[in-house]
Order: sequence, then structure tokens, then C-alpha cells
Amino acid sequence: MKRQEAIDKAKKFLLRTSLLSDIVPAEEGPIIDHASGSLVWDTEGNEYIDFNSGQMCSTLGHNNPRIQKVIREQSAILTHASTVYYNLPQIELAERIASINEAPFTKSVFGESGSDSNELAVLIARRATGRLAIGALTQSFHGLSDATRAISFAASSQGYGPTLPDVYAMPTPYCYRCPNKAEGKACCMAPLEAGLEILDKQSGGAPAAVIVEPIVSAGGVIELPSEYLEGLRRELHRRGALLIYDEAQTGLGKLGTMFGYQSFGVKPDILTLSKHLGGGLAISATVTTDEVADRATAKGFSCGHSHASDPLACKAGTASIDEITENRLELRAAQIGQRWSDSMRQLQQKYEVIGDIRGRGLLQGIELVRDRRTKDPATELAARIYRYGLKNGLMFSVRGRYNNVLRFVPPFTTTDQQLDRATEILEQAIRTEQV
Ligand SMILES: Cc1ncc(COP(=O)(O)O)c(C=O)c1O
Repeated sequence: MKRQEAIDKAKKFLLRTSLLSDIVPAEEGPIIDHASGSLVWDTEGNEYIDFNSGQMCSTLGHNNPRIQKVIREQSAILTHASTVYYNLPQIELAERIASINEAPFTKSVFGESGSDSNELAVLIARRATGRLAIGALTQSFHGLSDATRAISFAASSQGYGPTLPDVYAMPTPYCYRCPNKAEGKACCMAPLEAGLEILDKQSGGAPAAVIVEPIVSAGGVIELPSEYLEGLRRELHRRGALLIYDEAQTGLGKLGTMFGYQSFGVKPDILTLSKHLGGGLAISATVTTDEVADRATAKGFSCGHSHASDPLACKAGTASIDEITENRLELRAAQIGQRWSDSMRQLQQKYEVIGDIRGRGLLQGIELVRDRRTKDPATELAARIYRYGLKNGLMFSVRGRYNNVLRFVPPFTTTDQQLDRATEILEQAIRTEQV
């Protein structure tokens, strides 16, 4: 099918959603045709370095051979099975997830997306505590199902009517733009106190849980200070409430450790995994302790979707974990992250527009400003650099409260040459567009 014909059909038959890029409209952007490792090609034969890892689900590299083999083998045995009974790949994956987690994370339940894994985490927390109030950060993004839209304050929920009730926004400890104008560590404790006050007032001092990402990704690649996480955990436990980490973007090796909670040194009570858990296939997991799981199940916790324990997806999940552990991919993520942040620091010395550099391993961002002193966000420039990148073979995304954070999520397969080429394209983009 010719490009124009495909675009015409897409416009005619696909319901347009605002998730399509609003910087380069889908009808002007590439039609993705095929991919391999860290590269993607469009129908016109143009090549792109993919620093979005697909939709962050191909972090093992596009078309990972181990995942392809599992698809071939398992689809000849059992693709889908009843969720009423156990199947072997489901049990195997649950055991494997327990084996890569630190104690006491032993119990998993599976879903098909990041959204449903977070919905499950909220449901488990509510059942286990017998309470309802959930806190999430003002810059949060945890999915776009109705329930997770309610805890995604960085996404627009305007015009969708009532969503999940008893959900409260807590200030984000965004140290580069501290809401309390405090400097350094003082910044993280003020939002914590303010957030807990809101949660206490709204819940009569009895919240069920707070959900956060250790690095707030779509909200602008904001690393939560360890002191904030420590304080949040301590204060929630003091109130009999639970801490949930959405590790869709920070788990499974990406930050240089197997999980974000290891990178930040503070454990949650429930963690969720999705994105590259299936190596490109749709599967998610909500993982918790025996104690929390027992409390939820004692109260008749019920959940499950038709595809929630599909043997094919579960096998891919186990293969994805094997790929990471056997190749120590978390170490490669740390190397890639170091090379990339070193390059970004060099660019920062040359270009005033790079105000801040954040993130770790395979999840990094640079915040663009018009003036380093006033930190006036360079939103238009971010859009122009994005366009330049796409035109010249580099895909990444633009995120954050002011749409001025360039977010880079390269796959584990990214070579040093590809990293350096991506830096070159980025530098040319900044040089050309910053006027
Ligand atoms: C941190 C985080 N959680 C949850 C989700 C939602 O995942 P899904 O789109 O698979 O429902 C996303 C999606 O980007 C995400 O970044």
C-alpha cells in the first residue's frame, strides 16, 4: 500500500485519539514498517534510532530473538487458557518474578497493561487496608483506563465525567522547580508534608495507599529524592497505609538495578511491572508480599481479565526476565546511561538552553529553558528539536508539565555508535533550532 493511500485509510477507519503526537501530526509522521534492535524503519525506507523503545515496551530491542523463539514454540502448545485454573507458564513466571525480587515480594497477579496492573495495585491496597483514599503525585501518569486516569494528574481528565472517587493529588517533589521555592533537599520534605496534610484531611487520617513512580517519567523525568520516598513510606506505615511503586518504566533492569526500589533504596509494599515485561507482548504484573496478599484475599479479593494468565504472554515474560538476568542487562543499562548523561553534560556546557539533566540508565531527560536563571520553559524549542530529530532519524518524546523535557528511553541493545550518532543529531537540532 502506498503511503498516501495508507494515511487516507487511517483517517477514514481509525478513531483519532489525542495520544497521537500533537507536535508532528500522525498523518505527517512516519508509518512504522519494521524494526530490529534499536532501529525502526518507516514505509518509505527511512531509518530512525528509537529512543522511545516503541512505546517503551521494546526495551529488550525490537524483535528480540529469544522472544521470537518463545512465540514460535509456545503458540504451538497453548496460546490462551482459562483463568479459572492454573497453567504452567503462569506459575513459572510468578516464581521467576519472586526470584528476581528482594524479600518479601513473593506474590504476583497478572494483567495485560500498565493501566490494569495499577488498577490491581489500588484494588489490593483498598481490600487489604479496608480503606479507600489513594494519593498520587500532581505530575503522575499511571494509565488511561478510567481508574488510572483518576490517579494520572499529568494527563487530562477534563470532560470525562466522574472517575474513581476518593483519589487525591499530592505535590510532586520537583526539585528543579520546587513548589515551595526551597533549594536542594529541603525541597523534597515540604511537598511531602503538604501532600500528607491533604491526604489526612481528605481521608480522616486513614488513607489506603499512595502510588508513585520512583522516576516520574511522563511527568518530566523527575527523580523522587530517596529522602522523600523514605519519609513517604514511614509516614504511610505510621497511618496503616501502603506504598505502591509503578515500576512500568523503572523496573526490570532499566535504571542499572533490577528494580527502581533498589536504585532508590526504599521498598514499596506493592509494585507493578508492565512495558517490556513481555519483551514486546502485552503482559503486566502486580507484585506484593504474602502479608498484603493474604489480607486482600481474606476479604474475598476478586479480579481477572480473560487474557490475564495467557500462557503465551507468561512465557514471554519469563523469557524477558531470562534475557535480562543471563546477559546482566542492568549493567549495560548503567553503561548506556553513563555514556548518555556524559554526552548530555557536554552539550549542557555548550548550550544554555539545557537547564537540567535528570534520570538514570535507560530513562533520562533534559529540561529545556529559555533562560537558566529564570528557568522559563522552552516549550516551542522542544517541539522544534523533536521535529528536527524525527526528520533526521532520531525518535524520542517530549514530556513534562510545560512540554519542555526531552525524554530518552533507548533499548538495552543500543550500541555506543548509536548513542553517539543520537547525540550528534541532538546537537545539530539544538544548534539549528535554538535561535
Ligand atoms: C509509568 C506508567 N504507568 C502506566 C502506564 C500505562 O500503561 P499502559 O499504556 O500499558 O496501560 C504507562 C504508560 O506509558 C506508564 O508510563
